[in-house]
Amino acid sequence: MILRGRHVVLGVSGGVAAYKAVEVCRRLVDDGALVSPILTHAATKFIGAATFSALASEPARVDLFDGPEPSPHTHLAKSADLILVVPATANLLASYASGAAGGLLTATLLASRAPVMLCPAMHTEMWEHPAVQDNIALLERRGTLIVPPGVGALAGGDSGPGRLADPAVIVEEVRSFFASGAPRDLEGVSVLVTAGGTREPIDPVRYLGNRSSGKQGHAIAEEAAARGADVTLVTTVDRPVSSQVEVRRVDTAAQMHAEVAALASDAQVVIMAAAVADFRPVEVAASKIKKTEGVPTVRLEPTVDILAEVAHARRPGQVIVGFSAETDDVLSHASGKLEAKGVDLIVANDVSAPSVGFAHDTNEVVILAADGHRVDVPLADKRQVAAAVVDAVVRCRRSVVAGT
Ligand code: CTP
Repeated sequence: MILRGRHVVLGVSGGVAAYKAVEVCRRLVDDGALVSPILTHAATKFIGAATFSALASEPARVDLFDGPEPSPHTHLAKSADLILVVPATANLLASYASGAAGGLLTATLLASRAPVMLCPAMHTEMWEHPAVQDNIALLERRGTLIVPPGVGALAGGDSGPGRLADPAVIVEEVRSFFASGAPRDLEGVSVLVTAGGTREPIDPVRYLGNRSSGKQGHAIAEEAAARGADVTLVTTVDRPVSSQVEVRRVDTAAQMHAEVAALASDAQVVIMAAAVADFRPVEVAASKIKKTEGVPTVRLEPTVDILAEVAHARRPGQVIVGFSAETDDVLSHASGKLEAKGVDLIVANDVSAPSVGFAHDTNEVVILAADGHRVDVPLADKRQVAAAVVDAVVRCRRSVVAGT
């Protein structure tokens, strides 16, 4: 399962072979990849975005400006492990070679440092044209991976070189690409991750909650899976996750506690990234509290500190990771929690800082280890922060496992 947790941005440009990208998309998802499709406007003349949305891990995007995100290309560009374009038309090759960025796909290609794999498909005359061949040569010199077209039937009854490589071959190319470079340092390790903020109901309509989006916890789950771990994610949020991560959906601190209590003893690594409510209403009204009844008094009681409980019951060799979201005295609070909760690692962040923590795509953290080791992770995409957290877990496992 080499593709487990890998984020593949699947670009589809406007050629007849666009329909074959559907098969590529399905196979990548089946293999555990997280697939974000981007169709050019021309591609939508050949195939509907809805088809990709139905099969991929998240809805297909077409427009640079029409979606809810202000700059989807930079977000996708940063979080991609690979940008794969199926099919790559002569126009797409020319745009990418010349640095044009007029659409979402070309802008994402230009904004990304991720490896790029292009699968050209076009008529023989176009494929053999010196302009196209020059662009291919230029792109290859820059490190772009090209899956060459095969020979066979083309649109309009023609036949010759230019036919899109078989979808199975393209997926195999993607697999071998990841097999060659990915660190598999958590191969077969069972990892339990929690994510999102819990919601504690007051009545059937209202709840006490917090600002956690679950993005950091989900990114950690994906990263651990990509590095070979068997990951279970207990989460309060509905976000796309690769099929290789087993998801347990919960809402309240009590539900999260029940899931973690059932799973933690079998996990070799427990990462509590969730923002668990510390208090919950003592009574939950059975029907909606009416305004006419006056301002209600909501009495609160403490919830179980799940992290402290897991750390207390730890078995030899287990690595326990906590998070510490703070608004002041970040390091002193975080090192206090490291000790008080008896965990191996604390990931601390200042959630009051701009672009950090809840709801953002970026984060800036300090990872403190019980043995005094410290890693400062500067502002980065949450997937990169996830990689740093997993690196720290791997380091910790080496010393914890060596000591057992
Ligand atoms: N945590 C938990 N169960 C709770 C509360 C928190 O498992 N009921 C975990 C969180 O998942 C996180 C860590 O404890 O990994 C720290 O959570 P945080 O809210 O920052 O710390 P608290 O111990 O709750 O202290 P405070 O809210 O006073 O800062």
